[in-house]
Amino acid sequence: MIGAGYVGLTTGACFASLGYNVCCVDIDEGRIADLEKGIMPIYEPGLAELMVESRKAGGLRFSADIGASVADANFVFLAVGTPSTTDGDIDLSFVVSAARGIAQHLPDNAIVVIKSTVVAGTAKAVAEIISSDRAGRRITVASNPEFLREGSAIADFRNADRIVVGADDEGTARSMKELYRPLTERGIPFVATSTIDAELIKYAANAFLALKIGFINDVANICENAGGDVTAVAKGIGLDQRIGPAFLQPGPGFGGSCFPKDTRAFAATGKRFGAPQPLIETLINCNENRKNDLAHRILEVLGARGQAKTVTILGVAFKAETDDVRESAALSIIPILQRGGVSVRAHDPKAQAPARRMLGAGAGVEWHDDLYTAVNGADAVAVLTEWDDYRRMNLSRVADLMNGHHLFDFRNLFKPEKAICHGLVYHSLGRAVGRAEKMKAYAQGGGGPALIEVAASPL
Ligand code: UDX
Repeated sequence: MIGAGYVGLTTGACFASLGYNVCCVDIDEGRIADLEKGIMPIYEPGLAELMVESRKAGGLRFSADIGASVADANFVFLAVGTPSTTDGDIDLSFVVSAARGIAQHLPDNAIVVIKSTVVAGTAKAVAEIISSDRAGRRITVASNPEFLREGSAIADFRNADRIVVGADDEGTARSMKELYRPLTERGIPFVATSTIDAELIKYAANAFLALKIGFINDVANICENAGGDVTAVAKGIGLDQRIGPAFLQPGPGFGGSCFPKDTRAFAATGKRFGAPQPLIETLINCNENRKNDLAHRILEVLGARGQAKTVTILGVAFKAETDDVRESAALSIIPILQRGGVSVRAHDPKAQAPARRMLGAGAGVEWHDDLYTAVNGADAVAVLTEWDDYRRMNLSRVADLMNGHHLFDFRNLFKPEKAICHGLVYHSLGRAVGRAEKMKAYAQGGGGPALIEVAASPL
C-alpha cells in the first residue's frame, strides 16, 4: 500500500485483517517511524485498534523503502494524494512519482492497483510510465476506487455496497476478484469494468452524492422562507426508493478532502473531454456561496460592525468522527466573521490541532478545550459540525453562560422548541419560521429571547 494516509492505512489494515500480508509505505520517514511506535497520524474510529491487532498477527508492517517493499508483492496499491490544481483539475504528480518509484522493483507478475481517485485515463497512462521505466516489460495496472467515508471507513470497507475494479484484461479481473473473495463471498457485489469506467464511476458517484447535498440545502432555503420543515420534506422524498434517505441532511456546505476536490475534477474532466458539466459547475459555486451565506446570517443578526461581538464556533472538522478539517465550513466562515469585526472563539473535540495548523498562527482565533468555557460570554454560538458532544450539550447551561441569546445550529442538532424554551433565539436550517419572520421577531424582541412560533411539524 503506497501512501500511509486516510485511505492507505485504513485499506491496508483492513486487507491485513482479512489475512493478507500488507506493507504500508510512505515517503515521510517520520510518519513511518511514528507508525512503528504505534503513533497514529490520523484519527479514524477503530483504526488504531485494528492496526495493533493486525501487527500482532504479523500481517501488517511499515516501510519508507518503496523499492524493497514491492519486491515480493503480488498487488501494489497506489493510495497517494491527488490534490486539486489551481484550475480545479487534479495533480497526479504523487501518483506518477509513486509509479516511477516502484517500476524497477516490481516482480513481473505483480498487479499495480490505483486506489487513489484519479481522472479517466490515468490507469492507462500509469501503465505506459511503468512499462517505459522497465524497458518495455509490461505491468498490468488496474483501477480500484474506494468509497470510504471518513469516520466510518472500516465499516465501509467491510460492508461495501460494491467493489468496483477496472481491468483491461480478463486475467487481472480474475486476480482482483480472488483478492476480494473474503468480501464477495459474503455477498458484496463485484463490478468488473474497464479502467476508464472504474475511474468515471468514482467521480460520478461523488458528484451525485454532492449534488444531493446541494439540492437539500437549496430545499432548506425554500422551507425557511415558506415556513416549511426540511426534515419532513427530506423524509417524504427519501422514502422514494429512487431517491433514498441518505445524504439529505442540510448543513453548512460539503467539505472534506473528496467532494470539493472531486466535483472540481469532474467538471474539469467534462471540459477536457468536450462534455462540460453545468450541473456540477453550478453545485460547486452554490456550495461555496452557502458557506458565505451562513456566515452573513450570523453577521446580519449580530448587527453592524463596530460593536465588538464574540462568536463561538462549535466544530471545525468537516464532519463529525474525524479530525480532518480540509475544506471544512469553519475554515471559510471564521475569516468572514473576523472581517465583519467579530472576535471568534472555537472548539472541536478532535480537530483543534489540524485546524490551528490550517488557519495559521496569526489567525486570531481563541481556542478552548472545553465547550462550556468556549461559549462563556459569547454573543452568539454557531454549531458547524455534528459532534455528539454538541448534540448532548446542556442548552440551559449554554444559555446561562452566553452573553447573547443567538444559537445558530447549522447541523439541525436540536428541536427548535427545545432550544427556544431555554431562552435562546434559535436559528437552524430549513425549519420553523422562515428567515424573514425570524428577523422580524428578533427586531421586535430587541435582541432578547424572541418567541418564535414553531410551525406545527413532527420535529
Ligand atoms: C465521501 C464519500 O461519501 C465517500 O464515498 C468517498 O469515498 C469519499 O468522499 P467523506 O468525504 O469522508 O466521504 O464524507 P461524507 O460523509 O460523504 O461527507 C462529505 C461532506 O458532506 C461533509 O462535509 C458532510 O458534512 C456533508 N454532508 C454529508 C452533508 O452536508 N449532508 C449529508 O446528508 C451528508
